[in-house]
Amino acid sequence: MGGKILLANIDIPGIRGFDVYRANGGYNSVTKALREMSQSQVNAEVTRSGLRGRGGAGFPTGLKWSFLDRKSDKPRYLVCNADESEPGTFKDRYLMHHLPHLLIEGLIISSYALGVNTCYIYIRGEFKYLVGVLEKAIKEAHQHGFLGDRILGTDFSLNIWVHPGAGAYICGEETALLESLEGKRGNPRIKPPFPAFKGLYGCPTVVNNVETLAAIGPIINMGGEAYSKVGRGKSTGTKLISACGSINNPGVYEIEMGLPVEDFIYNPEYCGGIARDRYLKAVIPGGSSVPILPAELILNTAKGERRLLTYESLADGDFETGTMLGSGGFIVFDEDACIVRNTWNLTRFYHHESCGQCSPCREGTGWMEKVLYRLEHGEGKKSDIDLLVRIAKNIEGHTICPLGEAAAWPVASAIRHFREEFEEHVLHPAEVIEKERRL
Ligand SMILES: Cc1cc2nc3c(=O)[nH]c(=O)nc-3n(C[C@H](O)[C@H](O)[C@H](O)COP(=O)(O)O)c2cc1C
Ligand code: SF4
Repeated sequence: MGGKILLANIDIPGIRGFDVYRANGGYNSVTKALREMSQSQVNAEVTRSGLRGRGGAGFPTGLKWSFLDRKSDKPRYLVCNADESEPGTFKDRYLMHHLPHLLIEGLIISSYALGVNTCYIYIRGEFKYLVGVLEKAIKEAHQHGFLGDRILGTDFSLNIWVHPGAGAYICGEETALLESLEGKRGNPRIKPPFPAFKGLYGCPTVVNNVETLAAIGPIINMGGEAYSKVGRGKSTGTKLISACGSINNPGVYEIEMGLPVEDFIYNPEYCGGIARDRYLKAVIPGGSSVPILPAELILNTAKGERRLLTYESLADGDFETGTMLGSGGFIVFDEDACIVRNTWNLTRFYHHESCGQCSPCREGTGWMEKVLYRLEHGEGKKSDIDLLVRIAKNIEGHTICPLGEAAAWPVASAIRHFREEFEEHVLHPAEVIEKERRL
């Protein structure tokens, strides 16, 4: 299905450097946008493309940009969210590592469209090796007149700064990110006000994901209309999926939206089937925060239609029988995987990463971790299963930021679809522990 858009040139030797990138059509979109298009024309193309944010929520990018307070006399900022700390998601680092200029190109055009002269890349602290890659690309872009004052002889000027975080997952949440960028502890802010009005240093700000911004150059090159024809329905274009777990070919794949999940799992071009010829048991398709689905529901919706890699198809059935495309972190479990152990593991992560501002998240993640620990270690009671459901319900919707839901959904969905496995841990703990020891 379809060709690649973002990764089309990834196999060209030396594509990470400016000269090879430029010789293969790189930065043509900047020339086109700055010399031939007005700011509003660029905004219109992005809206027409139907591009939706690739950071997890899938919010339409053109609409987000239209909210930016352009009447304010304060400076405006564009912040690229390169925090990527969600377990199972590793596509942004891949993009920045192999195609740093694709991101820089997108940042220049987006800044032009938004009337921004200062742009930040907020990058996860652990990606130290990428800071140098990005800074080198920025330097090269400066040397060739694509950054700095009066870019390509126009009135538009832009500087890009790379800012590493200190390695906290919560700093990927956009308002926590802005706090951290301002030099404070990365605590999420209460919204409203939204960053479009009061963002970085109290100024109008757009925060977008790496993959979202990397798509802007190709959209300007091919035109918004052509981009909107790739994909399916309101899930336009392509999506990077980072696939891991029990599969033959883990890695990052660019798929056209609408690819059937079954093809993605079994086709040798992508995951290449389940490792060691095991059966597929379950998938978390959008990074660890989205609901897990058992094999029959990830391959087909409850209506019996083939499940597709689109925002709509994955969500079909709401949370009873559906899930989310999220950030595209596709985690595959085979028949031997222990869902209780996996859920405990994820909950440990969320408990550790909770910033602690809201009691339902701060306390609830800790309680869930404790209860899951005892279930996994053969010390659980049957009532613990409903206790977990109640704790998850009491977190959901009662917190400042969506980390609460991110912690609650994996637990609630695991029990919804694999309750017998939780019960088995209570009824036959010794057998379960022995089985896991043998694996
Ligand atoms: C706990 C948490 C962590 C997040 N981590 C990231 C992240 O690492 N990268 C990212 O782009 N968005 C992340 N997001 C989503 C951002 O808040 C924001 O919606 C996104 O950067 C917007 O970009 P987009 O519209 O291009 O998707 C996170 C959200 C939450 C609640
Ligand atoms: S939901 Fe959790 S991470 Fe988010 S603000 Fe509240 S305590 Fe912090």
